[in-house]
Amino acid sequence: MRSHYCGQLNETQVDEEVTLCGWVHRRRDHGGVIFLDLRDRDGIAQVVVDPDTPEAFATADRARNEYVLRISGRVRLRPEGTQNPNMPTGLIEVLAKQVEVLNTAATPPFQLDEHGKVGEEVRLKHRYIDLRRPEMIDKLRLRSRISHSVRAYLEGEGFLDIETPILTRATPEGARDYLVPSRTHPGHFFALPQSPQLFKQLLMVSGFDRYYQIAKCFRDEDLRADRQPEFTQIDLEASFVDENDVMAITEQMIRQLFADVLEVELPEFPRMPYAEAMQRYGSDKPDLRIPLELVDVDDLMKGVDFKVFSGPANADDGRVAALKVSGGAKLTRKEIDDYTKFVGIYGAKGLAWIKVNERAKGLEGLQSPIVKFMEDIVETLLDRVDAKDGDIIFFGADKVRVVNEALGALRVRLGNDLNLYTQAWAPLWVVDFPMFEADDAGRLSALHHPFTAPSCSPDELRASPSTALSRAYDMVLNGTELGGGSIRIHDQAMQRAVFEVLGIGNEEAEEKFGFLLDALQYGAPPHGGLAFGLDRLVMLMTGAKTIREVIAFPKTQSAADLMTDAPGEVSADQLKELNIRLRQKVKVTADEE
Ligand code: AMO
Ligand code: AMP
Repeated sequence: MRSHYCGQLNETQVDEEVTLCGWVHRRRDHGGVIFLDLRDRDGIAQVVVDPDTPEAFATADRARNEYVLRISGRVRLRPEGTQNPNMPTGLIEVLAKQVEVLNTAATPPFQLDEHGKVGEEVRLKHRYIDLRRPEMIDKLRLRSRISHSVRAYLEGEGFLDIETPILTRATPEGARDYLVPSRTHPGHFFALPQSPQLFKQLLMVSGFDRYYQIAKCFRDEDLRADRQPEFTQIDLEASFVDENDVMAITEQMIRQLFADVLEVELPEFPRMPYAEAMQRYGSDKPDLRIPLELVDVDDLMKGVDFKVFSGPANADDGRVAALKVSGGAKLTRKEIDDYTKFVGIYGAKGLAWIKVNERAKGLEGLQSPIVKFMEDIVETLLDRVDAKDGDIIFFGADKVRVVNEALGALRVRLGNDLNLYTQAWAPLWVVDFPMFEADDAGRLSALHHPFTAPSCSPDELRASPSTALSRAYDMVLNGTELGGGSIRIHDQAMQRAVFEVLGIGNEEAEEKFGFLLDALQYGAPPHGGLAFGLDRLVMLMTGAKTIREVIAFPKTQSAADLMTDAPGEVSADQLKELNIRLRQKVKVTADEE
């Protein structure tokens, strides 16, 4: 039906006859001449309809925004002075000969140019219209190029694309499962996969050697700006590899992707042990674009006359850390109060600070609510953080976890607020993760998943689970965990030891993962892999603010689809067929959404 996409037109087609199909983006009537901005997925072209072609003119006259038109005409240069250098097609226009209405359109719930004026809910409810916006099209187009580049790379490296089931058994990745009731097995449920983890390991046992999949994963967890209940992984696994092999393959994949799609040459990927990342940045996914670091001052604070600091400094599970911000003394009282509130979100009970106005003046040159408690050590403290005139030093004192979370988040916030970024892209590998993490009751859970190999023997693992490290690695970019993976356990004895430490008894292990334990005894090769969050990758590469902007049909923060109105109620007959009786009829009201 068309000869060109609107956005493809430029000076090279001048004098050519073209046919375009698209939507009326805007219609302007300029004293007897009608201008139609015709839009398709490639861009917008200006169409001019004048009264010399009366039939076309009459049709253009009744066209309204979002009508679907087919237009034939001749490309010409725009007259001097009316050119628009900001528009790819801004030098030309199409003088229409024929205008055909392929379909009319009701007035849309919002004008594309005015999407900012309506809430995200309205846009999500009419997502098909929201997706007409050029920004949305650009993001999804980039997403398509990203998956294409990744596929091309992995195919080139000998990885086979193999699909794994969606109706399956639970895969433990730390979230709740989405369950699907079985009609044919009353009282039994499938779980949607939290990842293809178990299946990809079984493919290694089968000898496929190199597997990949762009796979949908489902996790019923609390949502944040970079999480969706249904998301996509670039998932891969390989046999006869160690951690260096997996890191080399995937690092090269990301490097090539950035070069292909963004023409960006990524810098070196440093490797940082987990413990160091927590110590220096308070985070296992540090944003290395920001030059601020946490500095331990526990030793200095042990004897100070300020319980808030000396308490944690003397406690085994406490930490007192300083965060110096060069030039930060200019922060106002109100800004500091805002930051104090901000760290409160992470459980911090306050945010002490010292402003260094003039170091040469000693105590006189400082401004702070806390120096009075630590006059003897203040010089040593200032030396340790290398404080200069005009700096501010913030402090966190609490349990290690609270200090890391609070100051870690403050560091990122300050980097953003004060625009402290030193580079555009800062990738790294975080390695040497602990095998397990303990909850407040001391119960251990796997930091990655329970199929991750420890870097010690089964006996050493049993003897000291809390200090055992794993053979896991995470790729971090600009403070986002892009992907994570590990070398897996490939022998039954080690797998049993891990289940034992996790308090998963033989019977439970058999019931949940019997098939995996079975498979491990039939010649499982050493293997390992990694999965990237595709949505997060696209988010970073497009600069999108939320994960919803890079997913065609996303869910809201409360895991609902406003367009199809899912999840929805089902009929009594359907429930009966599934052998399900609801405990009570629940009515979800709009404000619970
Ligand atoms: P993990 O659970 O770390 O590992 O997930 C891998 C990557 O998937 C992305 N991701 C998400 N993206 C959007 N919304 C979510 N709710 C969400 N959850 C995770 C992240 C994360 O880095 N099977 C292992 C991988 C392996 O060991 O090979 C796994 O799933 O970017
Ligand atoms: P206070 O004596 O309670 O008024 O506290 C003095 C300063 O210490 C204030 O700036 C508080 O914000 C700060 N502060 C209080 N508790 C903590 C904490 N746990 N970590 C860091 N600073 C704190």
